[in-house]
Amino acid sequence: VVSCGQPAVSAFLSSRTWETFGRTEVIDNTLNPDFVRKYIMDYFFEEKQNLRLGKVFLKCGLFSPGADVLFSLHHSGIPGKKCGTIILTAEELSNCRDSAMMQFCANKLDKKDFFGKSDPFMVFFRSNEDGTFTICHKTEVVKNTLNPVWKEFAIPVRALCNGDFDRTIKVEVYDWDRDGSHDFIGDFTTSYRELARGQSQFNVYEVINTKKKMKKKKYVNSGTVTLLSFSVESEFTFLDYIKGGTQINFTVAIDFTASNGNPSQSTSLHYMNPYQMNAYAMALKAVGEIIQDYDSDKMFPALGFGAKLPPDGRVSHEFPLNGNIENPYCNGIEGILEAYHQSLKTVQLYGPTNFAPIINHVARYAAAVQDGSQYFVLLIITDGVISDMAQTKEAIVNAAKLPMSIIIVGVGQAEFDAMVELDGDDIRVSSRGKLAERDIVQFVPFRDYMDRTGNHVLSMARLAKDVLAEIPDQFISYMKSRGIKPNPAKSPTPQGKQHKE
Ligand SMILES: *[C@@H]1O[C@H](CO)[C@@H](O)[C@H](O)[C@H]1NC(C)=O
Repeated sequence: VVSCGQPAVSAFLSSRTWETFGRTEVIDNTLNPDFVRKYIMDYFFEEKQNLRLGKVFLKCGLFSPGADVLFSLHHSGIPGKKCGTIILTAEELSNCRDSAMMQFCANKLDKKDFFGKSDPFMVFFRSNEDGTFTICHKTEVVKNTLNPVWKEFAIPVRALCNGDFDRTIKVEVYDWDRDGSHDFIGDFTTSYRELARGQSQFNVYEVINTKKKMKKKKYVNSGTVTLLSFSVESEFTFLDYIKGGTQINFTVAIDFTASNGNPSQSTSLHYMNPYQMNAYAMALKAVGEIIQDYDSDKMFPALGFGAKLPPDGRVSHEFPLNGNIENPYCNGIEGILEAYHQSLKTVQLYGPTNFAPIINHVARYAAAVQDGSQYFVLLIITDGVISDMAQTKEAIVNAAKLPMSIIIVGVGQAEFDAMVELDGDDIRVSSRGKLAERDIVQFVPFRDYMDRTGNHVLSMARLAKDVLAEIPDQFISYMKSRGIKPNPAKSPTPQGKQHKE
């Protein structure tokens, strides 16, 4: 029930200023308007995309999983006065990625060649908004027949009808001529929706030559074209899996080696400045705040490596930041930051910088859920120089077989040459002659993203954008290679559609 005048959706955030993104139509004289205008918005997994409706802020990651979002409107002048509820429904435009596979044959086409029969081929056109036509497919020529059977072909649905299932598709049938002056046999129109019915009486088309029809009283047609088969192949997206319930298990690992410097000194990368986050905290927050939208319970395991632990001073390369091996989960990004600060006070920074134990730690969990219900993202934040390169490569090659991605953020001023090697963008990581099945590592040095004017919000947004950009593709490459399809989307919340008069 909306009762605050004329409601209008109003804003879209681009970096620092709000821009109007869309405005609904006005519906007169009702407190329960059902707005029909839709807005198409580009979706980027790796960015924080915020929407504002009046004074209410929304994150795109929250409403992308297909369910309705309900939020209450409050009166700005009278605190506590409620002004109704707005229901926002978002869906992903999916048909744009589908490909249609079709096969056609024709019967009793007109004979056009003086010697022999015809050499028929077909040309497909999609119609544009302005009524013009654009060619989108040409079949091969079948020689010397009036009853050709063309080969099956695939065409992106976008190319065929721009994703609009009811849009006219025009098909022209020609007789091929060596000199290029192909003879027009006739044409017919259809639509994606009709074709999608597959082989049936509805998909037999009369090929009509309008000129011939006007001249000859007894003209029936210039033959028929029959659809023999039709199927659609969809490319699933990251969001399809998230909608189907796949959870992202986000694990954080923090470097507690001595090279970071004594945390009590301001030169340390772990220095806790009461007024400003250190690079570890910034990297963690930047990446974590985006990933957490895809993790429903927002409980994140957080680990440390390269420190001496109390009470016995044993060096550990995989210890829980909250000190609880049974339950390493921290509550949200804030919880991780708190556990991180706490452990800085209790452990002693040491070394060496071993990555393999952490990677193998997460890989053990990933190995236990290979059915597509979970995908593991390990964020390693480190000041650099890795000590167990051979073991780390071996761990990466093994992890590449699992539902897992690794993000490494380098902080500080070290040389990160070795890390670049782990990021298989140019040369795929290999170990003992085995090549990693997929590229699962993304490495970035945080210093490259630092805003020169000291705007940390900007630095963090840039870092997250780059570091997360490859995750959806890595995720899809795993699901595809294992033949895992997304589960059907969970139905939207039932209260979403109720409108009480
Ligand atoms: C997520 O992964 C961590 C290991 O990185 C593991 O401790 C935790 O149990 C996993 N969570 C779930 C729900 O499987």
